[in-house]
Amino acid sequence: MCRICGSTVGEFFDFGRQPLSDTFPEPDRVDDEFFFRLAVGICESCAMVQLLEEVPRDRMFHDGYPYHSSGSARMREHFAGTARRFLREELTADDPFIVEIGSNDGVMLRTIRDAGVRHLGVEPSGGVADLSRAEGIRVVTTFFEEESARRIRAEDGPADVIFAANTICHIPYLDSIFRGVDALLAPGGVFVFEDPYLGDILELNTFDQIYDEHFYLFSVNSVRAAARRFGFDLVDVQRLSVHGGEVRYTIARPGTRPVTAAVEAMIAEERERGMLDHTTFEQFGANVKRICGDLVELLRRLRAEGKRVVGYGATAKSATVTNYCGIGPDLVEVVYDTTPAKHGRVMPGSHIPVRPASGLTETRPDYAILFAWNHEEEIKQKEKAFHDAGGRWITYVPDVRIS
Ligand code: SAM
Ligand code: TMP
Repeated sequence: MCRICGSTVGEFFDFGRQPLSDTFPEPDRVDDEFFFRLAVGICESCAMVQLLEEVPRDRMFHDGYPYHSSGSARMREHFAGTARRFLREELTADDPFIVEIGSNDGVMLRTIRDAGVRHLGVEPSGGVADLSRAEGIRVVTTFFEEESARRIRAEDGPADVIFAANTICHIPYLDSIFRGVDALLAPGGVFVFEDPYLGDILELNTFDQIYDEHFYLFSVNSVRAAARRFGFDLVDVQRLSVHGGEVRYTIARPGTRPVTAAVEAMIAEERERGMLDHTTFEQFGANVKRICGDLVELLRRLRAEGKRVVGYGATAKSATVTNYCGIGPDLVEVVYDTTPAKHGRVMPGSHIPVRPASGLTETRPDYAILFAWNHEEEIKQKEKAFHDAGGRWITYVPDVRIS
């Protein structure tokens, strides 16, 4: 049943039994991993693409949540720019107030703090929340939902901006989120969020954007329907190139802001591209199977030739690739990553060991699968020595390629 409107959800792909994508077990603690069925479908009524099974939120977002947003230079720049835009365009009244849902390690709010503007991060994962608190960012360790939003409204007053990046698509209970936004948002305020875009996922075959945390794959059409259902208007959309293609949605109370032409234009484009047609999703499923087949065939061939193949970037996305395609330590001996919390652990489900990224230049493997393809430019630049020494990158979206 659709989490937005209650209608029937038509399943279009089943990835089978999958582990939690961001839980990296210790090598001797792999027996009690949590698994669920990762299947995705589209609502026959409101067209919201969503998972069919929901993982309890405390299993995913807790004190040990290992994802640190500030790990990428490009993302640090992106969010500094986002904050500057809010300061310039929205936070201009006397004593303005901005709330961020899923503020993580403070990657966006850092710039707001520097400007001396009143702010609050709402971040349930205690470890990353503490990191931002240590930098003087104001943050509350809790889930954003109707109840916490009402509490914030009572203590801090209305928010001029409520912002969320790569977080709203993680939250199945959007009804409670919108009721919370309704309680907290100033009459003329905006609710702005950015998330991976279904249009890019379908076009680039980025099937690894589908995992436990990504409960929704938003389109402009489905977000507009959800906003309307919960008493708001979608007033603007903007495409972003980060994380493999995202859309930034601006939502306001009805009649408070003009609706830009971009909204209707993108919905028309989605219709033309067949983003409501079953055949589009069937084709996507066929592409996923083809890519996995090609990738495994390549890895087996390289292994047979005696080549050393590693992974780069222990991303949440890579859990779907390794577990759906059946890639274990026999095909990829280690995954290198810059996140200390992941080192000495193993990849969810596949149990490939995770080691510090310095291993790439120290051990000089023949090939590295770029699991963090969304940071391709930054990583290839950083790891130039690997390529200069003859190492080659393997990417698998939109197709399997060696470069
Ligand atoms: N905004 C950061 C970014 O774009 O890099 C962090 C994104 S991270 C993938 C998702 C974050 O959302 C996590 O830090 C998680 O703890 C947080 N989160 C999940 N559910 C939430 C909720 N109901 N309220 C607030 N934050 C939530
Ligand atoms: P993300 O795709 O969810 O942003 O996760 C990126 C992962 O890749 C994260 O675990 C950190 C890692 N990473 C590196 O190992 N080296 C890098 O240069 C970058 C940008 C990320």
